[in-house]
Order: sequence, then C-alpha cells, then structure tokens
Amino acid sequence: MSSLAPLPSERPEWRALADHAQTLKQRTLRDLFASDPQRSERFSRQDGFLLYDFSRQRVTDETLTKLIALAEACGLRSRIDAMFAGERINNTEQRPVLHVALRNRSERPMLVDGKDVMPEVRACLAKMRTFVEGVHSGRIVGATGKTFTDIVNIGIGGSDLGIVMATEALARYRNRNIRVHCVSNIDGAQLEDTLERLDSARTLFVVCSKTFTTLETLTNAKLARQWVADRMGEGAVARHFAAVSTNSKAMDAFLIPPQNRFTMWDWVGGRYSLWSAVGLSIALALGMDQFELMLEGAYEMDEHFRTTPFEQNLPVLMGLLGVWNQNFLGSTSLAVLPYDARLHRFPAYLQQLEMESNGKSVTLDGRAVDYTTGSVIWGEPGSNAQHSFFQLLHQGTAQVALDFLAPVRGSSQFAQQHTLALANCFAQVQAFAFGVTDEEIVADLRGRGLSEEEVQRLLPHKRQPGNRPTSVILFRLLGPKTLGKLIAMYEHKVFTQSVVWGINAFDQWGVELGKKLADSLTPAVQNPATAANVDPSLKGLLESVAQWRG
Ligand code: F6P
Repeated sequence: MSSLAPLPSERPEWRALADHAQTLKQRTLRDLFASDPQRSERFSRQDGFLLYDFSRQRVTDETLTKLIALAEACGLRSRIDAMFAGERINNTEQRPVLHVALRNRSERPMLVDGKDVMPEVRACLAKMRTFVEGVHSGRIVGATGKTFTDIVNIGIGGSDLGIVMATEALARYRNRNIRVHCVSNIDGAQLEDTLERLDSARTLFVVCSKTFTTLETLTNAKLARQWVADRMGEGAVARHFAAVSTNSKAMDAFLIPPQNRFTMWDWVGGRYSLWSAVGLSIALALGMDQFELMLEGAYEMDEHFRTTPFEQNLPVLMGLLGVWNQNFLGSTSLAVLPYDARLHRFPAYLQQLEMESNGKSVTLDGRAVDYTTGSVIWGEPGSNAQHSFFQLLHQGTAQVALDFLAPVRGSSQFAQQHTLALANCFAQVQAFAFGVTDEEIVADLRGRGLSEEEVQRLLPHKRQPGNRPTSVILFRLLGPKTLGKLIAMYEHKVFTQSVVWGINAFDQWGVELGKKLADSLTPAVQNPATAANVDPSLKGLLESVAQWRG
C-alpha cells in the first residue's frame, strides 16, 4: 500500500467542490445579489485600511465552507506554521523559506537550524541605513568628490522587478535629489539608453544578484564598470559600485569594497527578496524610513496570515477563490487591474511571484498533477485597459478572473481626476458582474427609435452576460506601508494555492534549460559559420543572422 498523501483532486473535499460547482454554475451574480441583500458585507473582509470585497465572486457560504475544508485537508495550517518555523519547505533545494524574517518587526526569534537569524537581518538593515543616509547626506560621494544623483540598479527577475515596481509605485515619496534607473535586459538597449542620460561622476551602480552568476546581470555590470573606468579610471570603480549577493567570492572578484557589500541568504527566494538588501535601490530612492514602513506593512500582513482564522484570512481567501475559479469554474487567467497608474508594474511583479512560484506540474513528492496549477497573470492599469483589452473580457469567450485594485485617495495631486478613476473602476466592476439583460438592451434600442427588425438584429451583438468573477481590493492610499501589505498579501495567496495544489512554490527548475542552451549557443550566434554542431532546427535562423548581420 502506498503511504503517499492523496492528490488534492482525490480528496473528498475536492470532489464535493466539483459537485457544488455544477449547481452554482446555474446561478448568476445578479441572482446571488438579488437573493441576498447583505451579500456585499458578508463577502468582504477588512484588515486596517485594506478591504477585500469578493462579493462579485461566484460563491456562496457553502462554497467558502467547502474551500476551507479543502485547505484544512491539504494541511494549510501546518504548512504555514512550518514556513514561519524555518522548516525546509523548499524540498527540492532543501531550503527554508523565510522572507518573513526580513520583515519581522517583533522580538520573536526566527530560526534556521536552531539559530536565530534576526541579529543578521537587523545588522543588514542597519548597514543599509548607514549607506543610504551616507549617500543622501553627501557623506558617501563618487571618485571625484561629487554627490550621487543617479542610482542604476543592475539585476533581473527578483533582483529587478520589485525595485522597478516599488520605486514607481511610491514615486510620490521619493527623495527629490536621487533618480533610480533599472537595467535588466541582456540586449544592451536599456543600458545604452540609461547611460547616455547620466554623468558618471554622479552615478552609483548597485549590482543585485542573489547568485552573482546571472548572465544578464554580469554582462550589464561589466559594461557599466568599463563605462566608469573609461571615464574616471579603474580606481573609481570601487566608489561607484555597490552589490547585493549571497556570493561573496564573486563580489571579491568584482572588487566591491566591504562597506558597499550587502548580504542576503539562501533562505530568501529571488522573487521574495525585495525585503532584503535587494531593496537597497528602493531605500536609496525613498529613504530608509520609507523602506522600513514597507517592511512594517508586510509584517502586519504576515501576522494576519499567521494568526487569523481561514474564514477571515485575506490571503487564504484570495488563494482559495483563485483555486475555485481556476479548477472548478474554468477561468483561464487572472487579470490584475490597478486604478492608479503608479502601480503600472504591479502586474509584472505578480507575474514572477505567481508564475515562477506556481508554474509546476508535479507535486512535492514528484507525482504528475491531474488538475491545473498556477494561473496566467497579466494586467495593465485602468483606465488604459478599458480602452484596449476590456472588450474581450466583457464579450469574448475567454473566462478571465479579475482583481481590481484601487486607492480611495489618489497618489497624484489632482484629486478630482482620482474621483473619475474610482468611478470608472466601480463602473467596470458592476459591468463585469451584472452585464446587461436582453430587456435592458431592447428597451434602450427601442427608446432610441430603432425599428423592431433593427432591434432584433443588434440584440446579440450588444449582449453582455456579466457574471465574471471579480474581486475589489480597496485601500486608503498608496503609501509604503500599504504597498508592503499588498505584496505580502499576494505572496501568501500564492503560498496558499501551492499548498492546496500540493506543489513546491519555491524552486524554479524550468528556467534552467533556457539558460544552459543560451550559454551553449552563444558561440554559434557569434559566428554562424562555425555552427556545425548546432541543432538543425536552428539552421535557418543562424543563416539569416549570418547574412543580415553585415
Ligand atoms: O531565472 C530565474 C531567476 O533565478 C529568478 O528566480 C531570480 O529572481 C533571477 O533569476 C535572478 O537571479 P539572481 O538574483 O541570482 O541574479
């Protein structure tokens, strides 16, 4: 007899949800709201100034009870405890998963192999503060004695996306004497466009790489170093570079001086690392106090996630509703729609968080899943999105779940405009939930004096069924604390889903193959004439490279 835990889909709780979905599919959101006037209060949860309104999800009390039963059967409670206890829950890399230690604002120790990591975490934060304040005050200057005005973060994936997203989101809070730029891509265009705007004497590079082996980052960093050396001599490099990594040997080799080095730990996954010194460029942009407010916000969400019963637990509910939409109602993706343009990189940030974490098709013990896992995440700020892809969401055939995010107070000084943004957000939410009935369409067309024939001809084109699963995440203001809270909420949502799906959210083996192939193909692309042993499938492409390069 096998001692393996059942696949989630083999559990009675999963089957109960599948049966329940058949019944619920017959009901519309119009219907659900009509039969329950208290629905919007009963299916909303609040934590401080963060409101999660999921009343427009296609759920009833029974759905929630059944989803929570599934989470319990899958051991969510013990997995949460295991994560906070520093157990090696990343079982393919044998690592603990302790990004929560980076924002632990309590006196509680956080243990890895019985050792409290908090003293190291606090020491790293203190070193970041000294550095950031040194740059801001002009105590730390470039090789020619000039203060720094421009920071270039060089990193990719988790060593880039959070920095881009947070510095844009919190632009209102930034230090007006400092501009932060981010360079990630391998092709050189970003680096060129960035460097051509900068004065080398006033530019500080922060090389961010957990491993310090990532091709894109090292290539860009080497070029940047050359740029500095060409303009100010080799001796200037040490003053114009800082680095964040677990790899101290590589930082030695890059000649990063000790006072400009910041450590991180292998118990922090790349996509969970903006809370570590990877956030140095965020702190340089905003100041250390603002950065620590982000940690505070995340800590509040950690405590909420760790201690709140599942029925009231925001990330748990978000995660379970995602499972419900995807595995039982057939949603194919999740669109994230922020109604504050400063959150424009938030969907991209969530793409790595969710898709790199939960893009897996075997369980923790290596069995193939027979259900879908990690959803496709995408999105753009409203109201831009309303004028591009919303048509498909309203009337197309794809079934997409929607997360609307909106601050009550806008992040710009133009308050009246934010009123319009909120009105648009709520209008869309209503349209997605309730659509429009045939009676309403017919009455409208007749009211406009159209002939009966014309009314009937247009009717199918104007039909808008609504019933799209929609959540609204409303918060008071897009500040550092709220942003920290929002990110942590999505992180724990992703973890919740991974537990229900029985997968490891903390490794990313799938990205390795492409990296290896790129290494082996570089010589062939460099000189296609020598590419004798390259896979024949690439022959045509390499021939075009050879012909067109000149
Ligand atoms: O390619 C995937 C990845 O390993 C991410 O998980 C990570 O955030 C990114 O590359 C960058 O890695 P590093 O910080 O080690 O340069």
